[in-house]
Amino acid sequence: MKVPGLRDEALFRQSCYIDGGWQCAADGTSFSVDNPASGAVIGTVPQLAEAEIEQAVAAAGRALPGWRQQTADVRAEILGRWYELLLQQQEDLARIMTLEQGKPLAEARAEILYAASFLRWFGEEARRVYGETIPAARPGQHLLVLRQPVGVCALITPWNFPAAMITRKAGAALAAGCTVVAKPASATPYSALALAELGERAGLPPGVFNVVTGAADAIANVFTGSPVVRKISFTGSTAVGQQLMARSARQIQKISLELGGNAPFIVFDDADLDRAVDGLMAAKFRNSGQTCISVNRLLVQDGVHDEFVGRLQLAMQGLRVGDGFDPEVNQAALIDRAAVSKLQQHQADALAQGARLVFGGQPHPVGGNFVSPALLTGVQPQMRMCQEESFGPLLGITRFSDEEQAIALANDSPYGLASYFYSQDVHRVWRVAEALEAGMVGINEGVLSNAAAPFGGVKASGLGREGSRHGIEEYLEMKYLCMGAP
Ligand code: SIN
Repeated sequence: MKVPGLRDEALFRQSCYIDGGWQCAADGTSFSVDNPASGAVIGTVPQLAEAEIEQAVAAAGRALPGWRQQTADVRAEILGRWYELLLQQQEDLARIMTLEQGKPLAEARAEILYAASFLRWFGEEARRVYGETIPAARPGQHLLVLRQPVGVCALITPWNFPAAMITRKAGAALAAGCTVVAKPASATPYSALALAELGERAGLPPGVFNVVTGAADAIANVFTGSPVVRKISFTGSTAVGQQLMARSARQIQKISLELGGNAPFIVFDDADLDRAVDGLMAAKFRNSGQTCISVNRLLVQDGVHDEFVGRLQLAMQGLRVGDGFDPEVNQAALIDRAAVSKLQQHQADALAQGARLVFGGQPHPVGGNFVSPALLTGVQPQMRMCQEESFGPLLGITRFSDEEQAIALANDSPYGLASYFYSQDVHRVWRVAEALEAGMVGINEGVLSNAAAPFGGVKASGLGREGSRHGIEEYLEMKYLCMGAP
């Protein structure tokens, strides 16, 4: 299979990258990867056996002493070259991504820039891993803190951002001096493998960055059972995060989890409605609603409810559903049939419980993984679409009457990743920002993500932060030195 329009064909790799070489499963086992827009097979990747995944972990272990001992400057320069290569190959990488993930090509191009930004950011942070000196407890003593790389890190990444979730983790890990074995989602392995190709061209030594593909359970078993792996970082569902956390207890591995969300978006009576609609469209329909920080519950105050519904319907008329390679399209195919079916069930459940369909929501004429965006009013908190992440272009409005009720509704969830609200009252802005139970709050803003910001959640949405100056801390251990008096 050829990727349409690919200039550098070496970027489309159908084997794993281990210890600086490209490797298939010894027994030849592989699995196929589909284009979610057409259902056509794009290619295959190896289904590695546990012993082969162990070899990747061992390679990362062998590479660790050399990489850890490199100066921060050398690590930063390699990450900087990798960043430049992503920019140079933006178009090819975006095409690979749209083919395997489905997202509109313009969004795929944007994701490559976003992915690259983590390599630059963490390359710069590598130079700022400072230690500490501490006033001594006894005369003549010297107390110090070193911050050292954790060791071999296993990174498990999702299909919704096939490049950026790799670099957000790997950039931080490599900058800190750790080595990496990455397992991309089985639906979207080719972006990760293309990144490995570019990492090699950037000068990453063999074994420092490895990419394995195969059965998720077998890979998780090796990662969590290995004494060599000192850190697991996972982005994905809360259910899988819970299992990984339990399994990582076997080796007491450090763990970072970026899990499910159920983001509320609150529009107060005093909001600038034009900005609120723009922010909502960006926060909800990016990646066709398939982001962990996508708006899942839309809360609108009584006084602006009807006006807001009207403006939102108008904005939603601008959504164009179709193949991600069509430049007119901004809502692409969902990742698979299960995603479509979940959305349909959420919509049917809400309608059966009294919600009203005010826009879209009919089956899409193309069928397959395509869905028509939908807007519902009269949505209530007990409905499935408010309880679970819909992860698609389905929006439902719940009315509220006052600030206290809005905060209670917003916090009425086991999740706490992102939340958003629109208000022009500066006192309310502080009150609500402090009261929301979420790791990230968009205030009069629907676009939160960037390399400088700490990305992560509270409650069932996870542990730890990625990006920002804090992201590198997840890959560092403190070592306290106590030097006695001579
Ligand atoms: C995610 O959906 O997990 C990541 C979204 C982002 O980084 O903006």
